[in-house]
Amino acid sequence: MAKEFKRYLVTSALPYANGPVHIGHLAGVYIPSDIYTRYLRLRGRDVISVCGSDEHGVPITIKARKEGVTPQQIVDRYHALIKKSFEGLGMSFDIYSRTSSKTHAETASAFFRKLYDEGKFIEKTSMQYYDEEAQTFLADRYIVGTCPKCGNDRAYGDQCEKCGSTLSPDELIDPHSAVSGSVPVKRETKHWYLPLDRYEEFLREWILDGHKEWKTNVYGQCKSWLDGGLQPRAVSRDLDWGIPVPVEGAEGKVLYVWFDAPIGYISATKDITPDWERYWKSEDTKMVHFIGKDNIVFHCIVFPSMLKAHGDYILPENVPANEFLNLEGDKISTSRNWAVWLHEYLEEFPGKQDVLRYVLTANAPETKDNDFTWKDFQARNNNELVAILGNFINRSLVLTHKYFDGKVPAAGELTDYDRETLREFSDVKGRLESGIENYRFRDALKEAMNLARIGNKYLADTEPWKLVKSDMDRVATILNLALQISANLAIAFEPFLPFSAQKIRTMLGMTVTEWDMLGHTDILETGTQLAAPELLFEKIEDSVIEAQIKKLQD
Ligand code: 2FM
Ligand code: ZN
Repeated sequence: MAKEFKRYLVTSALPYANGPVHIGHLAGVYIPSDIYTRYLRLRGRDVISVCGSDEHGVPITIKARKEGVTPQQIVDRYHALIKKSFEGLGMSFDIYSRTSSKTHAETASAFFRKLYDEGKFIEKTSMQYYDEEAQTFLADRYIVGTCPKCGNDRAYGDQCEKCGSTLSPDELIDPHSAVSGSVPVKRETKHWYLPLDRYEEFLREWILDGHKEWKTNVYGQCKSWLDGGLQPRAVSRDLDWGIPVPVEGAEGKVLYVWFDAPIGYISATKDITPDWERYWKSEDTKMVHFIGKDNIVFHCIVFPSMLKAHGDYILPENVPANEFLNLEGDKISTSRNWAVWLHEYLEEFPGKQDVLRYVLTANAPETKDNDFTWKDFQARNNNELVAILGNFINRSLVLTHKYFDGKVPAAGELTDYDRETLREFSDVKGRLESGIENYRFRDALKEAMNLARIGNKYLADTEPWKLVKSDMDRVATILNLALQISANLAIAFEPFLPFSAQKIRTMLGMTVTEWDMLGHTDILETGTQLAAPELLFEKIEDSVIEAQIKKLQD
């Protein structure tokens, strides 16, 4: 039997504060994590959800250099922008924190120091690339060259974005400095390494034997890392931006960004509640990391090894990473501005947060890379949100206002057809739960939409407007049922479309919403006064879509 947990800790990958968030990030990480969190809250679970900006690392210092500003100015700008746009989309994090916070510096330093004091690191001096012109060591993205695996001549010292391989600077062919363009020399430098090889056995047992239920893409990547054999990984860098390495003789050295960033989940929790240890130090907590597929190794291999080495903290129960979302058939690219940026979407489509949430969930890259197209966005809005969900809720409300002064009419005796309709959605609750709890959000969303389809069909088949003259009791029963289905929709869609669910609840005068009411047909009391109906969704015209496609191509 599956273990019962007392509380949940949901983490979402901390976005780098060196640029805005785009639809790829949303589909891969943030929308799934928000659906999951909202669902748990609706079920009355003890849950906290943490996120924040990842404010260290070379991409930030590179951007600062390029713009002639300080790294602090860069992270301040993008932290504010990302935070605001997440709020705009209805992300319900309990905190959106940042890794430049004081709590974080203290937490990450203490974490490093404990491992250092307990001899969990290897100290090693080696020759590393150095840019004599810029007088700086060239770690990670400070060095570029040709990828030995695919020949891409713009691979970075830590990764080739073309083929996805993880690299080290020494593997690059024709390396040169991303700072000055010069050919680097080698210089001696000392660093601290986490000997991942010492954790191989633990990881094998924990993941390969213990977590066969993880998504196949995640499990497969872990297996191939483990089968390839793990090497010690440097956890410090020669940089002047980051958290100083908290030991003597480490001047000019900071923690590697991938060492400090995941600790950000802990510091963010500390900033929410003094009771943070209850979440981080109890086997009764289910911790789930929502991440993109490029983060798998860090969340499944490196961070768990750090946690294990530290010893005080729990490990994640699951790491549901998604694949990538493409845009109009092409890879999303920040440098080519081939992206749909969240902050721009929110400005250009005011009040349509749920449309984006819907489309990105319906088309989420859960098991394979997927494509976002503006045409599909339009079609899903017009043919599904407007024509099915919006239409059904609107008809139920408008008819009730028309025939019963907007008061929930009493249901009389049910016909066989009514009972058949009820049977059709009696197991929707179970199916939604199974979808969401197994990170199959697309399937779960389909179930919710299917409920609206059932409602629509019910009204179309029973045609209450034709019975007004002859059988008002029957009309009352039909509308009662239609309104009860609407109330079910307000619950079923809350994790996915929180803005619309709230509107439905307000229109129906629903004061309590509990997950366990799903499937019931007595949610709305007879006589409840409904508010005036307002449209949930509106049709998106071709011209709007064409303008977006043109904007991309420009
Ligand atoms: O890939 C990224 O955007 C990273 N900034 C994610 C960090 S996740 C966590 F470890 F903080
Ligand atoms: Zn490559």
